[in-house]
Amino acid sequence: MKTLTFEGEEYTVEWDGKLCMHAEECWRSDSTLFELKRKPFGDPDQVDGDEIDRVAKRCPSGSISWQDKSGQTEEEAASSNTVTIVPAGPAYIRGDLSYEGIESTPGATHRRAALCRCGQSQNKPFCDNSHKKEGWDDTGAVGREGPGFETEGGQLTVSVRKDGPVLLRGNVSIRAASGEIRWQGQKVSLCRCGLSSKKPFCDGSHKGQFEADGVS
Ligand code: FES
Repeated sequence: MKTLTFEGEEYTVEWDGKLCMHAEECWRSDSTLFELKRKPFGDPDQVDGDEIDRVAKRCPSGSISWQDKSGQTEEEAASSNTVTIVPAGPAYIRGDLSYEGIESTPGATHRRAALCRCGQSQNKPFCDNSHKKEGWDDTGAVGREGPGFETEGGQLTVSVRKDGPVLLRGNVSIRAASGEIRWQGQKVSLCRCGLSSKKPFCDGSHKGQFEADGVS
């Protein structure tokens, strides 16, 4: 899937088709930054920098990013790192993300990602909506509370393990589908094979059942 770059007078906006899972938050927003029937559908000169930032932050997959023309100013990280569990869908991660075992453009900034939970994505570790085609289901409940942490924020390392879970290291809160923060801590393994009986946490069910790239 291609990447589209929209050049404006002051800002450059990018849409990365490889990350997009078509949540439709960009063009359904009340902004004129993206308009589905316009060519090109993105136009940074229609809005100011604050609005570009606001629209980019709506995108749960991180497929929309922006920079000013100096290349110095871009989206700031959220003040806290959060994972939101989508019922029968991906895990939305937001924060100051650093990737391990995930291919990405060198030097790229990561603020948001939609990670596959069903194990079926053709674009692992990112969601490509395969959960819908496969009829995969999960309520999005989060059954544990975690040890907590002292301060919010800081870098969150997202490490994808070979044939296994996603390991998060750093201060992070997990929000259940109910909207409530249920788990807080500094280290957690999240299931990405879709088989755990303790979702969203890994319970070892992936062993011998799941193959995916990652760090050993
Ligand atoms: S990755 Fe699914 S149980 Fe470990």
